[in-house]
Amino acid sequence: MTAPLVFATCKAYPRLDEDSRLVLAHLPAETQIAIWNDPTIDWMRYGGVIIRSIWDYHHHASAFSAWLDEREAEGTRLCNPAPMLRWNMNKTYLRDLERQGVPIVPTVWLGRGEVSDLRAIAQQQGWQEVVVKPIISASGENTWRLRHSDIAAFQPRLERLLTAYDLMVQPFIPEIIDEGEWSFIFFNGQYSHAVRKQPAPGEFRSQSERGGRVIFDQPTAAMIQQAQRMLQQFNKPHTYARVDVVNRDGQLLLMELELIEPELYLRADEEAPARFAQAIMQSLR
Ligand SMILES: Nc1ncnc2c1ncn2[C@@H]1O[C@H](COP(=O)(O)OP(=O)(O)OP(=O)(O)O)[C@@H](O)[C@H]1O
Ligand SMILES: [Mg+2]
Repeated sequence: MTAPLVFATCKAYPRLDEDSRLVLAHLPAETQIAIWNDPTIDWMRYGGVIIRSIWDYHHHASAFSAWLDEREAEGTRLCNPAPMLRWNMNKTYLRDLERQGVPIVPTVWLGRGEVSDLRAIAQQQGWQEVVVKPIISASGENTWRLRHSDIAAFQPRLERLLTAYDLMVQPFIPEIIDEGEWSFIFFNGQYSHAVRKQPAPGEFRSQSERGGRVIFDQPTAAMIQQAQRMLQQFNKPHTYARVDVVNRDGQLLLMELELIEPELYLRADEEAPARFAQAIMQSLR
């Protein structure tokens, strides 16, 4: 008999989030669910751990990092694998991908403690409107859109933020408002499905927590190809990946490659839960 698999979730979603739960019907009945930071769990007794709705981890980044170290040290099988999760915690991974030729949203990186003049950056880059966000974030927290006339007034705040965080500055990509953000879901490197996320009126952040709409839309073949190419350039075996992009004049720009706990929108495609289950079994069995 092989040991059962376990999903790691967080306290707020003790039975997994509703969408992730769709995969359970396609996995062995003895598959379990556990809270990632519950100290009573012996992870080693499972055949493998699948990370899912651990949606509080970014508030406990160093505890999560230590948790990954422990799982790795004891030899627990994780999907996605621990080194990939660690790499993906900090958006500086986008720099690595850019070096590998992936088209990303243009970014200026500001290190904590650095002195930076936001107006000068925008001017040098030729950006009228900018977005400032932290390199470790989720749900669009601490993410600002600054119109040209707001940039100078933001400087004191930027300086305060830079005492605590590493930040990134990007041009505001206006396509996010009308077309929205696309998420392409891949299992074991194979394209599965996509959704389009449109921000609520007056908002630019596409997250559903901020009123964004999730649309089960069909991307064009050319778009799927571009997203697939990004993953090929990344070129690391993974069980699940979400490629978040914005479409600028037909060219997809990578906003995030989510490998830790992305919502996978399994409900968008009736075949998706089975595809995810198959990828899990291939990775862990
Ligand atoms: N350069 C940009 N131009 C336009 N909109 C942006 C830009 N950067 C971020 N946004 C908007 O802000 C949202 C949050 O940004 P991003 O996804 O980078 O951060 P996050 O906090 O890690 O979010 P999550 O992990 O929940 O997706 C994006 O989904 C998008 O709607
Ligand atoms: Mg995002």
